[in-house]
Formats: sequence, C-alpha cells, structure tokens
Amino acid sequence: MRKIYIEPSLLSADFTNLDKQIMECERGGANMLHLDIMDGHFVPNITIGPFVVKAIRKTTKLPLVCHLMISEPEKYIPQFAAAGVDYISFHVEATPHINRTLALIRSFGIKSGIALNPGTPLEYATENLDYCDFILLMSVNPGFEGQELINSFYTRCRLLRSLLNDYAREEILIEADGGIKIDNVAKVIDAGADMIVSGSGIFQGNIATNIKQMRKIARRFTSSKLESNS
Ligand code: DX5
Ligand code: ZN
Repeated sequence: MRKIYIEPSLLSADFTNLDKQIMECERGGANMLHLDIMDGHFVPNITIGPFVVKAIRKTTKLPLVCHLMISEPEKYIPQFAAAGVDYISFHVEATPHINRTLALIRSFGIKSGIALNPGTPLEYATENLDYCDFILLMSVNPGFEGQELINSFYTRCRLLRSLLNDYAREEILIEADGGIKIDNVAKVIDAGADMIVSGSGIFQGNIATNIKQMRKIARRFTSSKLESNS
C-alpha cells in the first residue's frame, strides 16, 4: 500500500518556541520533521548547524530529515549523523563525488538521498539509484520558505515516478519540497510524491489542524489504492 509522509519544515517555525511547535506537529500527526541546513554559499541564506539539530533530536522521537543545502556536504555529514538524524539529502551540484557521498551517508545507517533543483536534469537521479533511498525533487529554487511552487514540478515528478517504475525501483521515495500547501497538496501527491514537505503551509495558522487536513487529503490516495487492490 502506498504511504504518504507529511513532513513539516521547521524553517517556518517560531524558533523562540520550537519545543512547543514540534509538540504541535506531533499532535497533528506529522510523520517526520524536515530540517533545512543552509550555508550562505550554496544558497543565499544561512540557517542551522549540527549543534541545533542535536538539540532538536532531544525534543522529539519523530524521524529527522536533513536537507543539506551546503557546499562540500561530505565534510559535514559525519557531524549531522552524530546529531542523530535519520535521513540526509544533498544537492548534486554541491559535490564532485555523488556516489561516494551517498555511500558515506549510508555508512552511518542513515537513509541517503539526492536533491534536484527545478533546473537539474532527472538523469542525476537515474544514474545514482543504487545508492539512493529517496530523491528530493525541489518544487522551488532552494534558499527560502514561502515561495510559490514552480508548475513544471508536476511533469518532472510524474516523469521521475515513471522512470523509477521503469528501473524497477518503485521503493525509492520521492520527497517534494517547496510551495506545498493544503490547496495544492493533492496535485503533488497525484504526481507521485511520497514525502510531502511543507513550511509556510503548515506553520501559518493552526499547525496541528493544517497537518490533519493534509493527512486527510493524503488518505484519499492511500485508500483509493487499497480499494483498487481489493
Ligand atoms: C527551501 C526549503 C524548504 C522550505 C519549504 O529552500 O528547502 O524546505 O522550508 O518552505 P515552504 O513550504 O514555505 O515553501
Ligand atoms: Zn528543504
């Protein structure tokens, strides 16, 4: 059965009240938490490092998904692994050795993923499938929360899902990230995404209610699959 994961991005959270905001995510039924790591070099913004991630780890048992938007990710992966994250992705343009970096992530027993910007060819994913547990398909250009989803995402996501099927690698998850809100989440899931990241779409307004609403929409897809199987 298809499973959809709702993944709040803490980039949009109130960091003066992070503990309570994470509790609200849990109350709403979030499946995992998305952590955006930016270095002011690969993207024009700076966020948090392993020290803060380690503190977040202490506040929740939810899986932590670390999205590295940093140059030379291989240098810092050991520190994020030690901070206790469960998934790590990095951008293919950020390192000359994609396979080696994916293998490094897996060497810590962490799920490995590559991140593709809206303008990055999907071949980067298909060339590296043996080393990937998931593929992060950006639906905005990385760097900031609150941007509008770029429409070409839907076609790219459908194409990536069908390529994964062609390669008999259906188990590889697609993570969609950027501009996803209650009003377009159905379209994103319909295009084939499994891990649904949402920052401003969840943290603006009532956090738990927004997550519950997204989960309700996601259930339409999981139950229709069930019905067609029965
Ligand atoms: C953008 C980040 C996203 C961002 C999503 O660079 O990778 O994870 O926090 O925020 P929204 O959902 O507001 O676009
Ligand atoms: Zn992200």
